[in-house]
Amino acid sequence: MIYSLARPLLFCADPETAHHLAFTALDAQAKFGLARAWAGVVPKKPVTVMGIEFPNPIGLAAGLDKNAEHMDGLAQLGFGFIEVGTLTPKPQPGNPQPRMFRLVEHEALINRLGFNNKGVDDALPRLRARKIKIPVGVNIGKNAATPIENATDDYLKALAAVFDVADYVTVNISSPNTKNLRDLQAISAVSKLVENVVFERDRLISLGIKKHCPIAVKIAPDIADDDIADTVKAICERGADAIIASNTTLSRVGVEAHEHAQQAGGLSGRPLTARADRVLERVVRAAKKTPVIGVGGVMSVADAQRKLDIGAALVQIYTGMLYRGPAFVGELVRGVKLAAR
Ligand SMILES: Cc1cc2nc3c(=O)[nH]c(=O)nc-3n(C[C@H](O)[C@H](O)[C@H](O)COP(=O)(O)O)c2cc1C
Repeated sequence: MIYSLARPLLFCADPETAHHLAFTALDAQAKFGLARAWAGVVPKKPVTVMGIEFPNPIGLAAGLDKNAEHMDGLAQLGFGFIEVGTLTPKPQPGNPQPRMFRLVEHEALINRLGFNNKGVDDALPRLRARKIKIPVGVNIGKNAATPIENATDDYLKALAAVFDVADYVTVNISSPNTKNLRDLQAISAVSKLVENVVFERDRLISLGIKKHCPIAVKIAPDIADDDIADTVKAICERGADAIIASNTTLSRVGVEAHEHAQQAGGLSGRPLTARADRVLERVVRAAKKTPVIGVGGVMSVADAQRKLDIGAALVQIYTGMLYRGPAFVGELVRGVKLAAR
């Protein structure tokens, strides 16, 4: 209700300014435990995925809290887990502004932020000192300046940095805003990358730093239908613990006439729902026993429920929260029903 009053004001500002204003307000409320009020009563709906116990299956997708700066407030909203990042080994500014556009009539966003982030080392003290009880995944990527042939080095550096503070680590090879990044989804490239990442994870475990650090791989919704099964099979066979399907899309189907439709970047929100669900279906089928995290176009309880019914073990949201507001998280947790597994 209150968000329906605040939203028009926030939407007067450009999306990045609105983002900062919203987080300033959330952080201030969180300091006094007041952000909890947005959530209402959040029932426990525990699920165990990748060997981790999640208090409920609704998570925050990567990109909203890139630098792990707002975890307290986000946890108070009722999330069962949050994924911070994408973090790259070195800090980088991302693309020039403007780089984020609202397509309000479509409840959508187009962004080409380009992994603007302060770098892994900056986030580590906050991740290490966090007091929140929910799992926190750390999404890692490559720096824009790193040639694609050397991408593995960046993922290994980022993994080694966050290994002891992440409940799970996501290998992001699906952002459309880093040149050639999505080439890493080619079967031979993804096989090699996942093999290297899993090998490094196992090496770190063997040092006794900690016993468990699942690796998830996040894919794009634009992989051709016929290639999805082989891509997913390759990822699973190389030892990934989960697949996240999916990132934003390059497609503009359904929004072609919008003034921002031709902006470069990834589209998220309502126009992504159907495609993300279709991809999810194929991914779940190909992943067999490997769990899948469903993301893309969750704008209602029914959207989240459909992802769970398709077979997602967990669901993440991003754009839906910008349109529905902070109370959306609690609404989703209350609304979804977990199948007996
Ligand atoms: C502004 C914006 C920034 C994003 N940044 C990242 C990112 O840094 N890393 C990542 O893996 N996904 C990123 N995403 C993708 C989301 O995590 C999610 O996969 C996608 O938006 C689809 O979900 P949605 O329709 O609920 O937004 C970003 C999305 C948006 C809208």
